[in-house]
Amino acid sequence: MQTVNDIRKAFLDFFVRNGHTAVESSPLVPRNDPTLMFTNAGMVQFKNVFTGAETRAYKRATTAQKCVRAGGKHNDLENVGHTARHHTFFEMLGNFSFGDYFKEDAIQFAWQLVTRDYGLAKDRLCVTVYAEDDDAFHLWRKISGLPENRIIRIPTSDNFWAMGDTGPCGPCSEIFYDHGDHIWGGPPGSPEQDGDRFVEIWNLVFMQYEQVTPAERRPLPKPSIDTGMGLERIAAVMQGTHDNYETDLMRALIVASAEETHTKPDGEHRISHRVIADHLRASCFLIADGVLPSNEGRGYVLRRIMRRAMRHAQMIGSRDPLMWRLVPALVAKMGQAYPELERAQPLIEETLKLEETRFKQTLERGLRLLDEATAELGADKRLPGEVAFKLYDTFGFPLDLTQDALRGKGIDVDVPGFDAAMARQKAEARKAWAGSGEAATEGVWFEIREEIGATEFLGYDTEGADAKVMALVVDGKRVDRAKAGDEVAIVVNQTPFYGESGGQVGDTGRATTAGGTRLTVTDTHKKVGDVWVHHARVEAGTLAVGDDIHLEVDHERRSAIRANHSVTHLLHAALRDRLGSHVTQKGSLVSPDRMRFDVSHPKPIAPAEMAEVEATVNAHIRANAEVMTRLMDPESAVKAGAMALFGEKYGDEVRVVSMGAKGEPPLSTELCGGTHVRRTGDIGLFKVVSESAVAAGVRRIEALTGAGAQAYLAEQERVLQETAALLKAAPAEVPARVTALIEERRRLERELTDTRRKMASGGGAASGGGEVKQVNGLKFAPRLLDGMPAKDLKGLADDLKKQLGSGVIALVSVAEGKASLVVGVTDDLTGKISAVDLVRAGSAAVGGKGGGGRPDMAQAGGPDGARAAEALTAIEAALAGT
Ligand code: ALA
Repeated sequence: MQTVNDIRKAFLDFFVRNGHTAVESSPLVPRNDPTLMFTNAGMVQFKNVFTGAETRAYKRATTAQKCVRAGGKHNDLENVGHTARHHTFFEMLGNFSFGDYFKEDAIQFAWQLVTRDYGLAKDRLCVTVYAEDDDAFHLWRKISGLPENRIIRIPTSDNFWAMGDTGPCGPCSEIFYDHGDHIWGGPPGSPEQDGDRFVEIWNLVFMQYEQVTPAERRPLPKPSIDTGMGLERIAAVMQGTHDNYETDLMRALIVASAEETHTKPDGEHRISHRVIADHLRASCFLIADGVLPSNEGRGYVLRRIMRRAMRHAQMIGSRDPLMWRLVPALVAKMGQAYPELERAQPLIEETLKLEETRFKQTLERGLRLLDEATAELGADKRLPGEVAFKLYDTFGFPLDLTQDALRGKGIDVDVPGFDAAMARQKAEARKAWAGSGEAATEGVWFEIREEIGATEFLGYDTEGADAKVMALVVDGKRVDRAKAGDEVAIVVNQTPFYGESGGQVGDTGRATTAGGTRLTVTDTHKKVGDVWVHHARVEAGTLAVGDDIHLEVDHERRSAIRANHSVTHLLHAALRDRLGSHVTQKGSLVSPDRMRFDVSHPKPIAPAEMAEVEATVNAHIRANAEVMTRLMDPESAVKAGAMALFGEKYGDEVRVVSMGAKGEPPLSTELCGGTHVRRTGDIGLFKVVSESAVAAGVRRIEALTGAGAQAYLAEQERVLQETAALLKAAPAEVPARVTALIEERRRLERELTDTRRKMASGGGAASGGGEVKQVNGLKFAPRLLDGMPAKDLKGLADDLKKQLGSGVIALVSVAEGKASLVVGVTDDLTGKISAVDLVRAGSAAVGGKGGGGRPDMAQAGGPDGARAAEALTAIEAALAGT
């Protein structure tokens, strides 16, 4: 038997042999469509290639594409479990031609693969074509040789395929497999066509048009091909069953569910096991692609799928959370084809476990309420909307879960009543905030939040995405459009731009529209919790509410931010490791060019300690450990060792970022909403550049990573090289050479001082003569000195006092244009004469203000060095006058 994995591989190999490039499945969250909720067909990632807006290196491609059809135009949620072929998640195999081959080759390839490689019997096959497509009819006749009655013309939109309300589209042709007359049903187009006997296995779309608006259809630049084969269906056919849930892959999941709950796979809980198997796949793949359960948008669709499965787990009688225990079975079957599943396994398991643990707390009570309410129902068999709303609001029951629970009893829900109850609650919430202080300052954002809801953030997984413009604000007021030159705040339905929070700066980047409007996004903020506001300048064109817009984050800047953010986690862990667990984060700034990290620590971090911390962080970078994000409740997160609830306002569920090798204790675990590198090696390099105090007991570390750290080190090296060159030494010899120079300089200074003193006191002619005058009957020795440092004057005065025996010394030295004065009086004279008085007289002559000291030795200075000689004259005059 060919397994699902074999069949997938055979398809891709066939088309690769026929000149197609095997392209990876795109994520379930489409990057290139502003309104499509989930990728729902193989062609989604090629949408812009069909229209000519994007070109690729190949003209033929083949994929196995992950698809989700739950929410939006293609929604199969309600039917899952009850039919043989509906899924929320499925794989679509496809081949694509972008203006290369068209109908004839597409039909040829399909026929060859199905009848030759897959070996399906020709007499089991029939095809449909769009009623007016004679071309396709004749080509099928020629290529397949099928009789005319098995080439069925279908006049309805069943044979015209469109991705959504807009986008590429065209007539299509479908291949059907006849499971045989033991199963009820008729060929396509017949009254019994909805039976299970004839099953569509492959849809060939002859892409010819682009639906630009719901009213306008344009031809594509070149006719193209888009095909889609449901892997689950073809696998069922090839494994001899008409039931997708009997294929080896789905069966393995069903068996896992049965084993874990000690029940029979095909007994009374058959439907529940099927729902669980299907919803397990959808949940796991969505989580792996970055969707996490929430109360809005994609996250809410995921939550609905998860909770629906969880109700079925409850019905089977599973006491403990079940879904997460089935993940290994799924990874075993699909992890090889989709490695992202294996990578995200811890995140998936924890997310499922958390959701199921919490939902269990209200599920039972909710079901009881539902039982009571239905018991009271009269003949009309309709659950009041109020009750459905209470289940939603108080017990976390999505509407479709309630509907699903009542389906078996033939009861439906008053949906308009439910909607009315919801609207009433919103109106009350509006009233509550309208009176709050915040409403006054943030009024416009509250209004936008109310009207259009939260912005969906895609930036953990992508840095470029298409979005729809939901609101524009210029100068605090809402506007319909903004024109070139305007500074405008833009709110969109989904964005890859990170809004400043948790210390990480907001993203910057570009925005463009197909119509040629260009904007520069200069910053991104979050308002009223979850409205992302892009501050932008319109460079060219105009932007209007309702426009589709392509948003592109500045990749280089974001990469640098990611590295700087991830390294704060490693630094935090290394600091605690080295300095002790009293170290906690007090603040941080993560920007593209550096990171700043404040921690509690009572004293400076010694250079040797810091060097060790730096080395540890770099070792963890080189370990190239995986960075994983999980969603947890705050309590379990703290139990798992998460540190530092800082900055971010955390709700019931928190993102937990951990770094480390699988199966080993993590290097770091933190609560964090920021964006991070995939592996620690992406940080490249870590370099601390400063450590300082910011407040009592708080130290600030500033550091660089990657290219920034490298540039810093290069600059340090350049300075060292230049210094070494000046010293004519090797860099390693610089410290010894500089030490030697400092010592030599000290020695020379000492020698110079000695020489000066000798010259001043030695009585030589050079010192102005060792002249000693008689003034007022006393010996007076005036000296005018050139460049003698002020600090040396007192020593010299002492020497001269000794030489004189009894008398007065006056020294005036001029250095850098300023005068320094010292007057010394021998002890025998201090009763009559004060050095302080004399020095003041001298200081006045050079523009100084006073002076000070003791009667035997006083010091002063003055700015006017040119009048130094006058200072001596003034001192002499003062002495004469005593
Ligand atoms: N895009 C086509 C489909 O989804 C092939 O059926």
